[in-house]
Amino acid sequence: MFKFGSSGFGARPIDAGAGPEPAGASLDLRALLEIVKRQWPVIALSVVVALGLGFLYFVTAAPRYTASSIVMIDTRRNQLLPGQRVAGESQIDAGFVESQVEVMKSTSVALAVVRELKLTRDAEFVGGEPGAVGSLIAAATSLLGGDAAGEASEEAKENQAVRIVTANTVARRTGLTYVIQIGYTASTPQKAAMIANALGEAYMNGELETKYQATRRASRWLQERIKELREQAGEAERAVQAYKSENNIIDTGRGLMSEQQLGDLNTQIATARASTAEARARLERILQIQNSDIPEGTVVDALRNDVIIRLRAQYLDFSAREADLSRRFGSNHGAAVSLRNQMQEIRRSLRDQLQQIGETYKSEYEIALSREKSLRASMDQLVEQAGATSQAQVKLKDLESSAQAVRNLYDSFLQRSMEATQQLTIPVSEARLITAATDQPNKTWPKLPLVLGGALLAGLGIGIGTAWGREMVSRRFRTPGDVERILGVECLGILPRIEPEDEHSVSPAFPTAPAEMRYALDNPLSRFAEVLRNAKVAVDIARLSREVKVIGIISALPNEGKSTVATNLAQVLAQATHRTLLIDADLRNPSLTRQMTPGAARGLIEVLVDPRALESAVVSDPTSGLDFLPAVVKGRMAQSAELLSSSAMSRLLDSAKDRYDYILIDLAPVSPVIDVKAISPLMDAFICVIEWGESSQQVVVESLESSDLIRDRVLGAVLNKADPVMLGRIESYKGRHYQNYYIDQPGR
Ligand SMILES: Nc1ncnc2c1ncn2[C@@H]1O[C@H](COP(=O)(O)OP(=O)(O)OP(=O)(O)O)[C@@H](O)[C@H]1O
Ligand SMILES: [Mg+2]
Repeated sequence: MFKFGSSGFGARPIDAGAGPEPAGASLDLRALLEIVKRQWPVIALSVVVALGLGFLYFVTAAPRYTASSIVMIDTRRNQLLPGQRVAGESQIDAGFVESQVEVMKSTSVALAVVRELKLTRDAEFVGGEPGAVGSLIAAATSLLGGDAAGEASEEAKENQAVRIVTANTVARRTGLTYVIQIGYTASTPQKAAMIANALGEAYMNGELETKYQATRRASRWLQERIKELREQAGEAERAVQAYKSENNIIDTGRGLMSEQQLGDLNTQIATARASTAEARARLERILQIQNSDIPEGTVVDALRNDVIIRLRAQYLDFSAREADLSRRFGSNHGAAVSLRNQMQEIRRSLRDQLQQIGETYKSEYEIALSREKSLRASMDQLVEQAGATSQAQVKLKDLESSAQAVRNLYDSFLQRSMEATQQLTIPVSEARLITAATDQPNKTWPKLPLVLGGALLAGLGIGIGTAWGREMVSRRFRTPGDVERILGVECLGILPRIEPEDEHSVSPAFPTAPAEMRYALDNPLSRFAEVLRNAKVAVDIARLSREVKVIGIISALPNEGKSTVATNLAQVLAQATHRTLLIDADLRNPSLTRQMTPGAARGLIEVLVDPRALESAVVSDPTSGLDFLPAVVKGRMAQSAELLSSSAMSRLLDSAKDRYDYILIDLAPVSPVIDVKAISPLMDAFICVIEWGESSQQVVVESLESSDLIRDRVLGAVLNKADPVMLGRIESYKGRHYQNYYIDQPGR
């Protein structure tokens, strides 16, 4: 990092780096504007060419037409079959409509259109774009032997057609409606309309097909499930039956078998018990009667036995008769005795009879008892059995309910399957075409404003890009701002490229000097002279703070205009009545001497050897008052640096300082040789000449940086050989009349 101007001369401190600034940093808006100002012809040319090409394209491009059909997704579902629900159907929402837009742009819809309209036979869809460029490409491909395209397979053709159809299709939802617009762009309005309509149709067919497929898939799945369920239901029912027979469960009309048996048996037992009790009562009564002599009348009635009744009646009759006889004839009366014997007989018979009845009753009772017993036994058995059966019934219920569930499922699936089959026959679409595309010409491309607008933008972009690129690639000095920013030294002005007239004043002292060398004298009102006067002012301002008499004119590279600037500046100074000495110290290439005093016999070297020779070596110009000390060098000189840094040189300059106000020294370029570095300790200041738009920024920075003495003593820089036209552009911001102050040719 270094800083120019630390000595306090015209140079201003900057914190710029060693090299030119990076491009990004310098590309602010102002810099860009300046670039545009400088490079506007490039930009204009690029815009004009782009507009021309755009127009050419507009005239030659194959026109494209767009047609649109409009499809509406119907939210009110078609009620062809009431309560019908189509598989895959869902509530229509915004997302659904957007998805349909994508479906319309899909390759499947495009493929359907390609097949429907047989687009593979249309050159527009398989033969590449007809047109200048297209046919050129086709010609080139056929030249290269690439005629395979002509024999492309049907599938490849189809794919290409699909690609073209999808590329030219635009589907978009209209606002927040359920309406979708399908646009197609083709080479003719008819084709565009045909394809736009076909796209709508293909979409709707595709939608139906999708639903059909979905329903078919669903019904196939249902069929499979139904088959499975049917088997399951059958199996479950078989299991129920098997279990029933296994567990002896027989269903009768009045309930299960064992329950019914139980009821019957209960009735029987009750009956049996009653008859047993009856039999026992009878038996008991008979036993009671047997104990008594003559049974009671009530008892006998109860027995309802005719024999006993008759015997008892007879007995009672005999007894009455015997009592009567005994009373009348005494108890020993034969008749009474016979009666009593007969009564005895009857009593015996009665007893036998009762005995017999008792026997019968007893056996009856026993029978009833054993019957009751047997019924009870079978009751017990049945109860036991019923317990086991109810256990089995729990399991049975389970089996039955699962069989029922499978059966219900089977039924509902069957129902669904039937509905689905119905829909297979009548699929319903939600979309309908509300506006068909017409073949009214609607040219969408090329549109002149669009093409020209695009071309203009492209031209501007390319132009500005090129201009900027040119500036960036070159990185030269063009503006005082460049000088000050990059070198950190004051720019003393821009010297335009001068083109002197053939007629110019000639000094008798320098008869061979070319016109450029006297330009400032011949054109005192020119910008050239003005800039040199400005340089003088800069020197004078520097002189206020210290002695600035010996001023070296340097440049980084040869041919930048050091000698021209030095001579003209020296003449301007001399003409302003300052005693001025111009020394040609460019011992490597004393071009100044060659031009001004080609025949000089003595010069700087001779004066260094013999200081007294100064006066005789100096050539004075009577027209301007300038003194010139040439350099007479024979052949190439290697020790120029030693000479320039010698004490003799120092002494020479010291003595010259007494006689002159300004001593200008024309030096060799800094970059290639070390002469300037060698002489720099003897210099009070340097003026750096930079060739406008030529000298590389980096080279100039490196030259000035090469020595602290040079760097510190640079008073300022002048840009030389500026293109007047470019200069006009750069300085256009100063106003139209700015240039009026400069008059380059006297009398004009
Ligand atoms: N402002 C200018 N307009 C037009 N031509 C110019 C200008 N300045 C210099 N030239 C021309 O440029 C060429 C080189 O100029 P000059 O000899 O002054 O440069 P230099 O730096 O001294 O070169 P060298 O390093 O060879 O000594 C000359 O032909 C000169 O006429
Ligand atoms: Mg020169």
